[in-house]
Amino acid sequence: MCGIVAYVGHREACPIVIKGLKRLEYRGYDSAGIALMNGSLNVYKKKGKVSDLEEFLADKDTHGHIGMGHTRWATHGEPNDKNAHPHYSSSGKIAIIHNGIIENYGALKTLLQEKGHTFKSDTDSEVFINLIEDIRVNNNCTLPEAVRLAMHEVVGAYAIVVLSKEDQNQLIAARKGSPLVVGVGKDEYFLASDATPIIEYTNDVIYVNDYELVVIKDGELEIRTKEDVKQTPYVHRLEMELESIEKGGYEHFMLKEIYEQPRSILDSMRGRLVAESSHLMMSGVREYENKLANADRIIIVACGTSWHAGLVAEYLIEDLARIPVEVEYASEFRYRNPIITEKDIVIAISQSGETADTLAAIELAKSKGATIFGICNVVGSSIARATDAGAYTHAGPEIGVASTKAFTAQVTVLTLIAMILGSKRGTLETTKLHQLMAELESIPAKVEKALELNDQIVKISELFKDATNFLYLGRGYNFPVALEGALKLKEISYIHAEGYPAAEMKHGPIALIDEQMPVVVIATKDSSYEKIVSNVQEVKARKGKVIAIVTEGDKTIPSMADYVIEIPETSEHLMPLLSVIPLQLLSYHIAVMRGCNVDQPRNLAKSVTVE
Ligand code: F6R
Repeated sequence: MCGIVAYVGHREACPIVIKGLKRLEYRGYDSAGIALMNGSLNVYKKKGKVSDLEEFLADKDTHGHIGMGHTRWATHGEPNDKNAHPHYSSSGKIAIIHNGIIENYGALKTLLQEKGHTFKSDTDSEVFINLIEDIRVNNNCTLPEAVRLAMHEVVGAYAIVVLSKEDQNQLIAARKGSPLVVGVGKDEYFLASDATPIIEYTNDVIYVNDYELVVIKDGELEIRTKEDVKQTPYVHRLEMELESIEKGGYEHFMLKEIYEQPRSILDSMRGRLVAESSHLMMSGVREYENKLANADRIIIVACGTSWHAGLVAEYLIEDLARIPVEVEYASEFRYRNPIITEKDIVIAISQSGETADTLAAIELAKSKGATIFGICNVVGSSIARATDAGAYTHAGPEIGVASTKAFTAQVTVLTLIAMILGSKRGTLETTKLHQLMAELESIPAKVEKALELNDQIVKISELFKDATNFLYLGRGYNFPVALEGALKLKEISYIHAEGYPAAEMKHGPIALIDEQMPVVVIATKDSSYEKIVSNVQEVKARKGKVIAIVTEGDKTIPSMADYVIEIPETSEHLMPLLSVIPLQLLSYHIAVMRGCNVDQPRNLAKSVTVE
């Protein structure tokens, strides 16, 4: 949700910032802008993509060794040139880029207007930079001091970078609630919303904490808290490889990420599951194993696709470990005065580790004494750092806005947790545990096989690309997969799609079914197979077009369905890891055939750092 990049060092800043913005474009792509220090402080900005900005810069003087850039996902003010970042203060002496939301911007703006500040945009960010300027002039203080004092005045979330034309060797940044990483090179520093723009140059990073102020001046970096206490920065060494954030020959990141799943699932269980020695290991879980196993209740908080992974976990944990599980939309949980006790375990699931609602749900649960366990994909992210313990999903960077490999990695890790808890509590007998472990180990190869269905799915996509509605049905472990399939289709192809538990169909959605309605039924061989056979018959009786995902060798459903996609057999506990694959491919191909930008669908952003 907005991406920020900045550079200070011996290289030309502009190409580094532009390249960094392209890497961060998944965070927002309404407009983009850059500020460069070259004797003056020049701002160039444009509605549209970073490539539009790049074109606009072609005939400009872009030299300079300090620069900052921003790619926007609009919150305050529509996406246009004037609302694009960076924003100057009224005097034009200082400029800001900002990711986040300033909640008290209205009151601050009125106050600043009364003092004579003028505004050119509708953004809260322009209010922030004018506040900083106002404090600097009135207190006759340095710019870092003014930023620090302004941090006491603003309410909301921010990661900001501020440059001043009056100090050509200084870059100031600060964070509260929105991510900010500093890359430490040799005589150079990089700042960004995440590490992807940085790793090409250095693997050494500092994660800036909330309420910290970073000042880089004359090649020296200093971090202070909002209370002006000097901090000793901790430099982390990142493992990330450059190729993991490039398309590697695929047309889109989403397709690459779909195809990476055999590997990302394997990576998410590597070292944690050793089937032949019947060994399950997850250090974050082991540490809290007793607490987890004795929990009165597990509450899972998440949003979107991560929430769907949470639903799969509800089935897994309740079935294998017999602990009651509630799965909550983080955005609802945080505002409805939920009952939380010290015996509750909260599991927060988030690919980005930055989702504002999930983060707020964690803070709420923490304040009530619950133990918080995090499942995140981004190392060092805010959620990873806000939780008591956790396990990373090793999916690697997910750049496509529609989540694919993060979902299967989350489900893999949650399956391992359910197995560990089941075994600890004695609710999962050893033979069954060993069977499941062996089956889980075989999943990457089975996903590989499911990916071979691609050509068949292309043909089906061709037939349904012009549909205006889709229904997705599933039962049991496949119900969350139906929700996920529908979400994937609507977010990237803009076709209306609904996911439903198959049996619920007759309580309403069945009215929608006619010969125009494609109904994707996930009807693999499991404990509810007989029931879903009846649901397929109900759809066929109303002339709906059934696209069925079935287990290889099934004869019954293929005799009724219009189109059949056969996936390998597995335990029903693990089926979501396979049954979601054809649905990801279906949504991908339909979106591409409709000419949609699958990696950057309209109105969306990868990391939702606003509530
Ligand atoms: C859908 C999608 C979103 C995210 C949601 C939560 O494809 O990507 O629904 O799952 O915004 O994001 P994280 O997992 O980063 O907290």
